[in-house]
Amino acid sequence: MLELKQINKFFMHGKEKQHVLKDISITINDGEFVAIMGHSGSGKSTLLNIIGLLDRDFSGSYLLNGRDTRALSKKQYTRFRNENVGWVFQNFKLIDNMTVADNVGLPLQYQGKPHKEIRRIVEDVLAQVGILDKADTYPKLLSGGQQQRVAIARAIVTNPNIVIADEPTGALDSATTIEIMDVFRRLNAAGTTLIIVTHDASVGEQAERLIKILDGQVMGADYEI
Ligand SMILES: Nc1ncnc2c1ncn2[C@@H]1O[C@H](COP(=O)(O)OP(=O)(O)OP(=O)(O)O)[C@@H](O)[C@H]1O
Ligand SMILES: [Mg+2]
Repeated sequence: MLELKQINKFFMHGKEKQHVLKDISITINDGEFVAIMGHSGSGKSTLLNIIGLLDRDFSGSYLLNGRDTRALSKKQYTRFRNENVGWVFQNFKLIDNMTVADNVGLPLQYQGKPHKEIRRIVEDVLAQVGILDKADTYPKLLSGGQQQRVAIARAIVTNPNIVIADEPTGALDSATTIEIMDVFRRLNAAGTTLIIVTHDASVGEQAERLIKILDGQVMGADYEI
């Protein structure tokens, strides 16, 4: 379970202080599929970075699975992220000079898993996202949808309980968006908590819950984006 309480976040622009997240309190239960929507600049990515343990420079409290994320040492915080959260981005963020299998296996390599075991797990997740035949090719030779499947495989290879995605279909056409959302939906059906930021209403409507953000604040369900 994720419990954010009274989160406030500021950015400094020279001497000017920008209040980007304003008193955000959100609870997300295990296994939920939540979409976050709002205008450009409303603070979605800033909020997602906090939720996905990439940023803990904020005020308020954030408990993840009962742990106070701000009480962890830097090392514990990184480890906690690697164990609990898989990240997917709009522009895939794959490493071009590494094969698909090596990209996907990277988080396991960081964990120090033996090579043979890594290969077995990688083949397993590549099959899960439907691109096992691409294991030994390079990301640049794949379509956008295939590259996003690689990124999803990399996000789930450590078997995290939460997958976080910032505009995962933002660079994809509508047919490919449907395919990628099928992958995400299957993941969620298998029990993974899924939190997606999107501008695409067709993506947002697939979520169980929609969180609408306006100017750094959570709006009520009746607010029209
Ligand atoms: N690293 C940063 N330094 C300073 N200001 C930032 C930083 N990151 C974001 N901001 C500011 O915070 C506000 C919210 O940005 P954020 O990226 O969270 O918006 P967003 O809702 O994700 O927008 P988009 O839909 O365009 O991705 C913006 O005004 C942005 O300029
Ligand atoms: Mg953003």
